[in-house]
Amino acid sequence: MENHAKSLYNYTAKFYDRRHNNDATRHLRKRELELLRKYAHGFILDVGCGTGVYAGLFENYTGMDISKRMINEAMKKSKKLYAAADAEKIPFKDGSFDSVICMFTVLNLCDYRKAVKEMHRALKKNGRLIVSVASVWDRKNYSFWTRLNGRFDSDVKNVRIEKDRLRFRLFTKDELIKIFQYAGFELLEFHGVYKWQEPYWNRYVKFGMTAKIKLVLERLLPSKTGRIYIAVFRKV
Ligand SMILES: C[S@@+](CC[C@H](N)C(=O)[O-])C[C@H]1O[C@@H](n2cnc3c(N)ncnc32)[C@H](O)[C@@H]1O
Repeated sequence: MENHAKSLYNYTAKFYDRRHNNDATRHLRKRELELLRKYAHGFILDVGCGTGVYAGLFENYTGMDISKRMINEAMKKSKKLYAAADAEKIPFKDGSFDSVICMFTVLNLCDYRKAVKEMHRALKKNGRLIVSVASVWDRKNYSFWTRLNGRFDSDVKNVRIEKDRLRFRLFTKDELIKIFQYAGFELLEFHGVYKWQEPYWNRYVKFGMTAKIKLVLERLLPSKTGRIYIAVFRKV
């Protein structure tokens, strides 16, 4: 069966970095980077490495992605080891890595049960896993009716990204933690990253007030309201 994520990312590879060159992504990347610097060490496997945003950060780095075109982009950035493979079937021996990273919605796109099991297998005992996913609070993926009802379940949604319809699973905080605990991980850190999206009119009219609201929201909203969750686990 055709993998829609693969065809989508083969298609978007050329403009992926340009598309994510915005305030919201920079804000998220800052938080990701803090945790990667704090926890990732030794031999690193980047599951769903994409265009290799983090490839240059580590000496012993292996990037893995289902999309060959994303890997081509990564290779232009950083000369590291890369493998074209599915997160659901990681092509490395048990306990090969000290740290596995899986950033920026990769887990939203695949069969998370298989992928989490595989990441656990590829890690050494005590190894670290750093993951970031789109959370259930990413409301733009819900229909108007669902939003009106306030019924935000975390089921698989068929969302349209570019020209493809994609199965995209959103997670609640509790679910995400349980999924990893069930697979044999212990939670070390959890963060919800909330980012105010610029209203389109803000491009034309700059209000000092918008900046203030943004600052207040980002500081005050508790982790449950994060649109992206970043979590760090240890293989027990
Ligand atoms: C939103 S991008 C994130 C890329 C990168 N981790 C980053 O931080 O920019 C999602 C990536 O996951 C990859 N992907 C989707 N499903 C996958 C799977 N089953 N196995 C491996 N990679 C997958 C896509 O090809 C894409 O490169």
